[in-house]
Amino acid sequence: MKTIMVIGSGQMGGGIAQVAAQAGYSVILNDIKEEFVNRGLSIIEKNLRRNVEKGKLNGPDMEIILGRITKSVSLQDAALADLVIEAAVENMKVKAQIFSQLDVICPEHTILSTNTSSLPITEIAASTKRPEKVIGMHFMNPVPVMKLVEIIRGLATSDEVYKTIEELSLEMGKIPVEVNDAPGFISNRVLIPMINEAIYTLYEGIATVEAIDNVMKLGMNHPMGPLALADLIGLDTVLSICEVLHEGLGDKYRPCPLLRKYVKAGWYGKKSGRGFYNYNS
Ligand code: NAI
Repeated sequence: MKTIMVIGSGQMGGGIAQVAAQAGYSVILNDIKEEFVNRGLSIIEKNLRRNVEKGKLNGPDMEIILGRITKSVSLQDAALADLVIEAAVENMKVKAQIFSQLDVICPEHTILSTNTSSLPITEIAASTKRPEKVIGMHFMNPVPVMKLVEIIRGLATSDEVYKTIEELSLEMGKIPVEVNDAPGFISNRVLIPMINEAIYTLYEGIATVEAIDNVMKLGMNHPMGPLALADLIGLDTVLSICEVLHEGLGDKYRPCPLLRKYVKAGWYGKKSGRGFYNYNS
């Protein structure tokens, strides 16, 4: 495997492109608009520069890593990829459309993976004619820092493809955990109900944003509170995951109306400047 294409240059796609380039791969970083790719690239550059300042990386190596990443606004560039890691928005229609196009564009050997947080790998795979080569590769946020990658097998994923992705995750400095295909996998099946409950606690007027986060930080030793974490993930993404859990697992996962309201208002959290906290002030 030489070339990895990352689709979506948002907070996850950018981070994945960075760790793939750091592991020595040629990376094609794709998004629908050049300005989005540029934004992703500038965040990668900022992260690497910080590592240089901290003495964890030297300047020439930073240039080599950046030189491995090329920009793309056309899915046709996937013709050059040995592996695609899709990190576009958390929406089944969008992902199914991307995968059905990739299936036509990519060479036969190309593995198609998705960084989805919750959507069924088996259903995404069904939009292609190569379901044995489709797999979930679920990185955590922020990608360069977090060690875990959940690897999710779809119904038809081959052992060979699983093994390749497991080895790649290790090469990227990550610790893979194998999970079967189910709504939210392990991470978000456990995490999102806690975040949703924190939002209900706020919605019902039980405590302030700061009080809820302080209880979980100081009382449970969580590094950040659930509402700050929701802002970091992106409230649009949290709502999409919660809807997948609700649909797949039942009423106890019903998204809080306050979460819906914030998303309708365009309050997506840190990435939009406003969520449970205000990042503009
Ligand atoms: P984001 O909103 O930061 O970035 C998404 C990017 O995808 C945007 O730049 C958008 O322009 C682009 N995009 C949308 N449609 C596209 C298309 N058809 N082709 C190419 N690019 C397209 O979202 P984020 O947070 O990076 O999430 C991306 C994926 O990663 C989602 O599936 C999400 O569930 C998953 N994920 C998110 C985590 C988080 O903490 N935010 C953690 C783990 C997985």
